[in-house]
Amino acid sequence: EGVKVVDHPLVQHKLTVMRDVETSTRGFRQLLREIAGLLTYEATRDLELTDVHIRTPVAEMNAKKLAGKKLVFASILRAGNGLLEGMLDLVPSARVAHIGLYRDPETLQPVEYYFKAPDDLSERVVIVVDPMLATANSAVAAITKMKERGAKDIRFVCLLAAPEGIKHFREMHPDVQVVTAAIDDHLNDHGYIVPGLGDAGDRMYG
Ligand code: PRP
Repeated sequence: EGVKVVDHPLVQHKLTVMRDVETSTRGFRQLLREIAGLLTYEATRDLELTDVHIRTPVAEMNAKKLAGKKLVFASILRAGNGLLEGMLDLVPSARVAHIGLYRDPETLQPVEYYFKAPDDLSERVVIVVDPMLATANSAVAAITKMKERGAKDIRFVCLLAAPEGIKHFREMHPDVQVVTAAIDDHLNDHGYIVPGLGDAGDRMYG
């Protein structure tokens, strides 16, 4: 309930290659982009449709298109941008919000350094993205901020989550569906997901 683990074979295969310490920066970035499309496919499964009337080269027909305003993808910097690119491949007309947060290595609390979002969030489906849900402090803060700016229909997409993070997230934002490729074993003392894949931002950008 509220958490969807996308265990599609392609997702699991790509994730395993990303976890491998031998995988290069280039490979990691490419794989994240590819997986992002598959996660987005699941996160958008229940979007509302509306009827339109069109003409094919052969006949007229009633068909379906997405209803309402364009989606908003909200990327938690830096690592969220890796997922964002793959999501935009799939939904090129989506609007984009950027939320700059870094995690203080001592307290593991998120520190905000940038925020920019479209101003009509209340009328749009918002998908917040960050590859890692560790303590969930970053995701919780980002979503609180989006709610303060009016967002009502919010989903969260990540690549990897820790059980501790899922629990914290569900307590703070029970109305927000989580889509992830895997839930790992635990968090270590430094707030890293184990076995995980290391620091996603570092593996992507160095
Ligand atoms: C990492 C990761 C998430 C956050 C997850 O970001 O990309 O944003 O930590 O941890 P949490 O669930 O415990 O909050 P980091 O602070 O390393 O910044 P970066 O993405 O810029 O590398």
